[in-house]
Amino acid sequence: MPESLDDYLNAAETAARRAGKILVDMLQTAIVKEKSRKDLVTDADVAAQHIIHESLIGRFPSHRFVGEEGTPGSDGTVSDLIPDGEWCWVVDPIDGTANYVHRLPNFAVSIALVRDGQTHVGVVYDPMSDEMFSAILNRGATLNGEAISASGCRDIEQALIAASFPPNVQRTSIEVQQFIEVLVQAQSIRRLGSAALNLCFVGCGRLDGYWAGKVRSWDIAAGALIATEAGACLTSRDGTPFSLSRGDLTVAASDSLHRQLLACLNVHVQSAEG
Ligand code: IPD
Ligand code: CA
Ligand code: CA
Repeated sequence: MPESLDDYLNAAETAARRAGKILVDMLQTAIVKEKSRKDLVTDADVAAQHIIHESLIGRFPSHRFVGEEGTPGSDGTVSDLIPDGEWCWVVDPIDGTANYVHRLPNFAVSIALVRDGQTHVGVVYDPMSDEMFSAILNRGATLNGEAISASGCRDIEQALIAASFPPNVQRTSIEVQQFIEVLVQAQSIRRLGSAALNLCFVGCGRLDGYWAGKVRSWDIAAGALIATEAGACLTSRDGTPFSLSRGDLTVAASDSLHRQLLACLNVHVQSAEG
């Protein structure tokens, strides 16, 4: 019998729960290394990715697999790695490793199934809160099986907005200038440490907006689908169509808020470039 997207979703949720158990079990004992300055990895990241690979490729051996911990030569640009028409699992075993290392409970397992640059199935699982965010393309998004939707917030002055900074952010980085601009205009701003969860939080209305300048496909492939299926408006940072291979995004709970957030972010891009 042919496999369905529901089969893929069930497999992704099972793999995410198995990985999440490993993360919780290793929370007190994980060994931390620096991949580069401020960019951390633990033996829990590797163990969790291993179990996800075993679960998914064991069941769907013809599928490709791109994971943060061990896709040699990959910089997270999925389009370069996946031939047209092939299914590829895009996996971050821990999104929010800095939080994990400090035992701050805001990290998640992110699993997406991508074909032709489009996520068809996405799962983001927070094992500390036992929250499973899931979506199938064109079929809406859920949190622990219940439908979720974005807040609908239309005004940046009423909005709670999150940002991601890359590990190598500098005083002069554009992200810092944008952060200050949004800090001034929004109701409040957060940096929570997990791109995947930020997207899900926009999807379920805990956040009204979120932007990131330099994230990787595995950070956002699942969360982007969950946010858009929940009704959020998602584009690249300059307002052009969102693309997994670009690594920047702006998402908001309504078109109106999205326009205001883009205007805010691009003030400093233009002044830096001009
Ligand atoms: C990080 C998180 C963070 C974002 C970083 C990512 P990691 O992922 O998503 O929110 O700011 O750019 O690298 O390293 O914890 O998997
Ligand atoms: Ca990540
Ligand atoms: Ca990671």
